[in-house]
This record gives sequence, structure tokens and C-alpha cells, in this order.
Amino acid sequence: MADIPKIEIRNVGRIFRKRGVNEDFHALSDFSLTVREGEFVTIVGPSGCGKSTLLDVLVGLSEANEGEVLIDGRPVHGPALDRGIILQGYALFPWRSVRKNIEFGLEIKRVPKKERAERASRFIKLVGLEGFENHYPFELSGGMQQRVAIARSLAFDPEVLFMDEPFAAVDAQTREAMQDELLSIWEKTGKTILFVTHSIEEAVGLADRVAVMSKSPGRVKEIVEVGLPRPRRVSQVRDTTDFNVITHRVWELLQDKPPESLKVRQPGMDIGEAILPDAII
Ligand SMILES: Nc1ncnc2c1ncn2[C@@H]1O[C@H](COP(=O)(O)OP(=O)(O)O)[C@@H](O)[C@H]1O
Ligand SMILES: [Mg+2]
Repeated sequence: MADIPKIEIRNVGRIFRKRGVNEDFHALSDFSLTVREGEFVTIVGPSGCGKSTLLDVLVGLSEANEGEVLIDGRPVHGPALDRGIILQGYALFPWRSVRKNIEFGLEIKRVPKKERAERASRFIKLVGLEGFENHYPFELSGGMQQRVAIARSLAFDPEVLFMDEPFAAVDAQTREAMQDELLSIWEKTGKTILFVTHSIEEAVGLADRVAVMSKSPGRVKEIVEVGLPRPRRVSQVRDTTDFNVITHRVWELLQDKPPESLKVRQPGMDIGEAILPDAII
């Protein structure tokens, strides 16, 4: 199905009625984005620009008021297990062990017990939690809990994975380790990932393309091609010139300033300004 985009978001609008006020609030307006099969796309935008609202629509937790969302060419209406979602909080069941948390989706899908156990073991290994199978969430660090959440989503083999600031609550060092782990899992599984963040570094470090959102009402302001080499580790690209050029470009877009990039793309500019390659525009 190479010709059909994996995810197609067409002119999506989401309108909330303000409580007690006879006035509509557009959280999203004319949001369009197309994601190819196996692609890793990040969406970056300021707090309150509508990122979580968009993900709710994409996973079918709420319905768009305008436009439509297609996955594999089929319109999204309501939640389904072919779309995994990983949220900012880990949303683990505190009374279930690591293994039982990971098996949860498989139980709902009525996967037989033996296969459940095998699949859970595979994903426990993939996210590096061997030896912690029988631990409970309260016995794990934030990073480990997030890995359980990732394993749980991957275990029921979703076609696409939607992630809403999944590493926002972990410390900086763990966050980078988790980013690299996610990249490694993505390389091994070939899943299509749409990942929302307000961190520019995270958005650029992970993605094939970064969709930069405008302030509320959220829409795609510009899509930045990242083009950093694959396989990639955020820890290895973080200090490179290319990485800094691209993050600067995204930063500029988020500033809502007149595009300095138009200036820096002129030939013969000063060093530091002239280095912005056309490839990322
Ligand atoms: N159910 C809702 N009812 C009314 N307003 C909402 C609702 N959900 C979100 N909003 C508003 O929509 C805007 C976007 O919210 P959100 O999608 O959570 O932003 P982000 O995830 O980018 O920080 C915010 O102004 C928020 O207050
Ligand atoms: Mg949010």
C-alpha cells in the first residue's frame, strides 16, 4: 500500500464551546498532515496549541468538527486497537505486574494465554525489562514505567503509534536514553510513529520530518525535513552542526517572527547565518 498514506489528516478542525459563553473556541483549525508508512513524524508546538486535542481526534477519542482523518485510506470513527496511544502519564494499572500490564491489550483481544505470555516476553526483552516481569509499577522508576507503557502498546501490534509527550515527566538523562530506545524499537519494528512534543530538540532528534504548529488555533505552519542520518541516536547527533541548524530553524518558526531564514538563505551571508542548507526548508 505504498501509494496510500498511512495517516492522512485533512483540514481537521476541532471546536469547543466555551462554558457559559456563547462563543466557539477553535483548538485546531485546518490542520493537515500526511504520514507515510514506517515514517517517524514529530509535531512540535507551544503549550495549548492543540497537540493533545489532535491526538484525541487521531485515536478516535473525540470527533473532528471539520475535515477528516484517514488511516490506511479508511476514515477514523471511534477508538480501535490498531492505533496505539502512549500518553504523558504512564497510565499503568498499579495492581498489575509489568507482565500483566503488557498482556492487558492482548487479554482484551482474547489472544490465547500461551501466545499472550510469549508476546509479552518478547516486548519485555525489546524494552530491556527482563528481570522486572513480576514487579509492580510502584517498584519501578519513571523511565521504566514508560518502557512498560511502550511495551504494552507495541504488544498488541498497532499499525500506528501515537505518542503524546511521553517523556515529559522523566529526568533529562533518562529522557535521552528513552529517546534512543524508542529509535531502536522503531528501527526494529518499522512502525509508523506520530510523536507530539513541545521540545524542539526531541522533535528534531527523533524525526524524519517535524511538523511545526502555530499557536492556537493549531495548524501546521511548516514541515521541516530533518535528513540526519539513520540509524540515529539522539545522543550522537545532539552536538552536530546539522542538528543545531535544524533546531534553530524550528525555533525560528516557533517564534512567530518574520522568517529570518529567508535572509539566511541568501548567498554570501555571515557565518552562522548562511549555513542553513536549502535541504531543510
Ligand atoms: N474538552 C475541552 N473543552 C474545552 N477546551 C478544551 C478542551 N480540551 C482542550 N481544550 C482547550 O484547547 C486548547 C488546546 O489544548 P491541548 O490540545 O491540550 O493543547 P496542547 O496539548 O498543545 O498543550 C487549550 O486552550 C485547551 O484549554
Ligand atoms: Mg498536551
